[in-house]
Amino acid sequence: MKQKTVYLCSECGYEAPKWYGKCPSCGAWNTMSEFKVQPESAARGTNTFQRGASRPTLLRDIESGDETRFYSGIGELDRVLGGGAVHGSFVLVGGEPGIGKSTLLLQMCQEMCKSARVLYVSGEESLRQIKLRAARLKISSPDLYILAETDMEQIISETEMLAPDILIVDSIQTVYKRDLTAAPGGTTQIKECAMSLMQYAKNKNVTIFIVGHVNKEGTLAGPKILEHMVDCVLYFEGETTGPFRCLRAAKNRYGSTNEIGVFEMSDHGLVEVQNPSAAMLAGHPQGASGNCIACVMEGSRPLLAEVQALAAKTQFGVPRRTAAGVDYNRMVLLLAILEKRCGLFLSSSDVYVNVVGGMRLDEPAVDLPMVLAIASSFRDKPLPEGVMSFGEVGLTGELRAVSNAAQRINEAYRLGFHTCIMPMQDIDEELTRSMNIVRVKTVADAIRAVL
Ligand code: TYD
Ligand code: MG
Repeated sequence: MKQKTVYLCSECGYEAPKWYGKCPSCGAWNTMSEFKVQPESAARGTNTFQRGASRPTLLRDIESGDETRFYSGIGELDRVLGGGAVHGSFVLVGGEPGIGKSTLLLQMCQEMCKSARVLYVSGEESLRQIKLRAARLKISSPDLYILAETDMEQIISETEMLAPDILIVDSIQTVYKRDLTAAPGGTTQIKECAMSLMQYAKNKNVTIFIVGHVNKEGTLAGPKILEHMVDCVLYFEGETTGPFRCLRAAKNRYGSTNEIGVFEMSDHGLVEVQNPSAAMLAGHPQGASGNCIACVMEGSRPLLAEVQALAAKTQFGVPRRTAAGVDYNRMVLLLAILEKRCGLFLSSSDVYVNVVGGMRLDEPAVDLPMVLAIASSFRDKPLPEGVMSFGEVGLTGELRAVSNAAQRINEAYRLGFHTCIMPMQDIDEELTRSMNIVRVKTVADAIRAVL
């Protein structure tokens, strides 16, 4: 039977019968790649779901059983998973190479293999390398099975023989199916291999973790096209040069996607950061211009972080702008607001913004601290000590209310801050007793209040 060819977008997974330079669904350029669909009869041979075997059932008649979970013993990971890994779930752990995905999963095995049978399949490292890593991480689990293999059929047949409760495949880019002509790591191989694993997970009720590498632009074929297939997508982020790593759920069928887990990479692997705010603020310079403490909400937790800015006179040509840890376009917009609404002429200054510790702050509440850090650097005047802020900035330079103000203020108070610059919004009067709350209407007022 003739093989059918379709084209898949590596950004959004859109499927089209012909190639497009620009994806008709998400608009990304050069992301469509060829994907060969197995002929119907061959596909049916490997497909373990039987056609006609499923019938419509009344919701009330479906027996769900108890939702049982495996616990990793790593509190931050269990929380991001929504309280442990659900039996039979399919979890994708994505992140840049070298961020610590293999380390995290190996550390997770330590606890899990006490109560479950765990198989760790590595397509990247040899058995010896894994043993050395485990020794470094002080993992001494006698009951952890390791397989160094990249051939998918081999992996499935070994897995069937061992019948583990948890299977880890590190990484989906290195495994391949022999009957496909495409190279490992390509869209076709990734999709087919993930499909086989998913069917295995659902049929045998095995919890599967797969690792997927993403590059800086997030364009590497892989995690994006798998997102719709899996139950849970965790992204491991952070600057590989910095110590902090942040685990974020981008999708979770069994929990909230707001939670994050914060880790620090040490000589002995990843260590949970119990008090991220304090860790982020360690080494915060006192009396230096160009920084402001922000309080953002990460899931249900408030997190304090230091936003730094440097505004320096442009030496030639177009001014440079770089943003690390904050959205670049948001920064450019705030610069325009500062220029237009506050009379800060930044158009002849290079501006660099950075969030200390390698965290990414995407919440609009980081607008005001960013503006204050930039203004402080531009005027070369430090903010008074003990000041923190949060608030969203609108296009007219007005400050807009943000959620969870009380939680943010309490966290700042706990860490020794005494003044909070925030938008005009109602808060519990009780809070004003412990903190000096300065409520401001516009960006210009905020700058006037502290600089
Ligand atoms: P790794 O888990 O191999 O990353 P990934 O699987 O996402 O590619 O992590 C590799 C990095 O972590 C490497 O740069 C070294 C660092 N690392 C430590 O700092 N301490 C450790 O104990 C370990 C195991 C790794
Ligand atoms: Mg790895």
